[in-house]
Amino acid sequence: MTDRELVERAFAMHKFSYVPYSRFPVGAALLCADGTVFTGCNVENAAYGSTICAERTALLKAISEGHREDWQTIAIAGQGEDYCWPCGACRQMLYEFAPNLRVLAARGDGQFQCVPLRELLPYGFGPASLQG
Ligand code: THU
Repeated sequence: MTDRELVERAFAMHKFSYVPYSRFPVGAALLCADGTVFTGCNVENAAYGSTICAERTALLKAISEGHREDWQTIAIAGQGEDYCWPCGACRQMLYEFAPNLRVLAARGDGQFQCVPLRELLPYGFGPASLQG
């Protein structure tokens, strides 16, 4: 799967986004080493803080389907003029399982940038940080 195809999988998730409050649909597509792709969309809530981002939807789907250690790339697609960079909470959640993940951030016109998660979350706190 090419980066462009993964970004398109992320854009295709906009139709499932539940965004009555922000009106800002986000889609995500997480590619595993064996070619499996887990997709996600953002799901908002009247209690705003309970909202789940598209990336974490995809992440939870992967973990709960037994794909925990083989993540290669995640694409994140928004509809804004700026690239849809993952929020801090999503960076942290992704870092737990895949500190070497590639992140593709796409904007509304379809353009995207590729940045390593380690650059988006330098000096990250992960499982190894808890070793005594
Ligand atoms: N959102 C995501 O799903 N992923 C991001 O990377 C940034 C923000 C969602 C959360 C909320 O539903 C909407 O975008 C506006 O913040």
